[in-house]
Amino acid sequence: MADQAAPPAGPDLSKGIASSEFADETLLGHVGDDEVLLVRSGSEIFAIGAHCSHYHGPLAEGLVTGESIRCPWHHACFDLRTGEATRAPALSPIAVWKVEQQGGRIFVREKREQPKPRIEPRVKGSDVPRQIVIVGGGAAGFAAAEMLRRQEYRGSIVMLSNDAAAPVDRPNLSKDYLAGSAPEDWLPLRPDDFYSEAKIDLRLNTEVTSIDTKARHVVTSGGETIPYDRLLLATGAEPVRLPIPGADQPHVHVLRSLADSRAIIALADGAKRAVVIGASFIGLEAAASLRARNIEVHVVGLEQRPMERVLGPEMGDFVRALHEEHGVIFHLGDTVTAIDGKRATLKSGGVIEADIVVVGVGVRPRLGLAEKAGLTIDRGVVVDIYLETSVSGIYAAGDIARWPDPHSGESIRVEHWVVAERQGQTAARNMLGQEERFDAVPFFWSQHYDVPINYVGHAEKWDEIIVDGDIAGRDCLLQYKSKGRVLATASIYRDVASLEAELAMETALLF
Ligand SMILES: Cc1cc2nc3c(=O)[nH]c(=O)nc-3n(C[C@H](O)[C@H](O)[C@H](O)COP(=O)(O)OP(=O)(O)OC[C@H]3O[C@@H](n4cnc5c(N)ncnc54)[C@H](O)[C@@H]3O)c2cc1C
Ligand code: FES
Repeated sequence: MADQAAPPAGPDLSKGIASSEFADETLLGHVGDDEVLLVRSGSEIFAIGAHCSHYHGPLAEGLVTGESIRCPWHHACFDLRTGEATRAPALSPIAVWKVEQQGGRIFVREKREQPKPRIEPRVKGSDVPRQIVIVGGGAAGFAAAEMLRRQEYRGSIVMLSNDAAAPVDRPNLSKDYLAGSAPEDWLPLRPDDFYSEAKIDLRLNTEVTSIDTKARHVVTSGGETIPYDRLLLATGAEPVRLPIPGADQPHVHVLRSLADSRAIIALADGAKRAVVIGASFIGLEAAASLRARNIEVHVVGLEQRPMERVLGPEMGDFVRALHEEHGVIFHLGDTVTAIDGKRATLKSGGVIEADIVVVGVGVRPRLGLAEKAGLTIDRGVVVDIYLETSVSGIYAAGDIARWPDPHSGESIRVEHWVVAERQGQTAARNMLGQEERFDAVPFFWSQHYDVPINYVGHAEKWDEIIVDGDIAGRDCLLQYKSKGRVLATASIYRDVASLEAELAMETALLF
């Protein structure tokens, strides 16, 4: 995805700058129309493309750690030497430029040929699988397939998805795309020809119905048997549907897939009023996007404060006020008991007439396949630190996986885009025999109008929230602490502090 082109910033690096002008860790300049960032790391100077390959985030405002740089927006990480996107959500490399130093000046004139990504060594004695099957065409499944090819795996990759669409940027479905400000071509994670060029056998509209763990094959609803040497389960989560009369009408929608988002957009055309059931992330992002389309939005939620369970009362109050500023009408401590045509009846007795009803009341991990195959389940598919399930050769990643998290010291399962992608990448490397622990600090972001909320770590409970800054002024970092230990942080426009919090958590492992 690319932003609007802006005029190139800073000095013309092709003409050179005096070494003394490069006093800080980074300096933003340009070469022709390309914005280029000079980065000092130890005694070396690197020159890289100045923008993140995810959503064009400004790397000049990121954090340099050793020979890498982290993006301030959603914490992708790039290798300064090779430009490789070493951590999702960025999947594509950034450009790297040649740095020349002559007569006390630094020049950047030429892009280097994109270096090859680093291939991690395999554990001795591990076999190379002939065929890897991935069930799921979402964040984890796609990131795994892409990483397998990046690691120069030459065997066969079969990716089975019961979705009609090739892997898309799911977070966008409730944000810019739903709001009407993201064009269609921002959505695919890769263009269609990527799969044939990378020899990834992507089969859409293909439901996997069972796994034979002894014979090592999966079976599709069409009756086809597909053998695997390694299997990755990345089936994601299913939106909870409300068991209330009228929830099956065509103007009542959950929001998970591209088809769901498109259906809501089609209804939004000409709609005057919407009811959003659920005051958590998806519901509120959908509310913001529908407001951007000038639709009157009523949010009905059981909780007293939106997002309080995850972000605490102070942030909950802020989120509510933010949405109210934009005209959203809340009905909290309430729920919808029936939808009769356009009339949504509230438990408290009122009725709201709505052209669209969006149901965002949470998701359940899709565990059916794993359960049927006899894999160990505990409110998710249980995996070890290498993301392998209880059956050797079968891995799980993304919304379905419950893994031992060395930061909280607990087994956790989360529903975050970046975690799903990073797990897909780690699972890919481990399916190739690389034995990589999954110890990434969980991260998610949520966007409401022009306010991004970044969350690092994992805190199901806390005994203290420390607020640094001003939440209402949209400049804050909240620490969620238990017994004096920081479990997580949430921040608004404190990007470097959020990256630093992530870095601090990386070094404080409990196992
Ligand atoms: C609208 C929306 C907005 C979001 N925004 C954010 C955000 O801002 N930040 C954030 O951190 N997270 C966000 N999330 C959550 C994030 O998208 C998920 O955590 C992530 O997609 C999980 O990845 P996954 O690969 O586990 O599952 P998914 O991406 O859901 O992929 C699962 C795939 O498996 C397929 N599948 C399932 N069962 C079968 C089967 N039996 N056979 C074949 N295929 C099957 C599905 O069709 C799908 O392709 C959002 C989610 C939604 C729905
Ligand atoms: S813009 Fe860089 S990680 Fe999203």
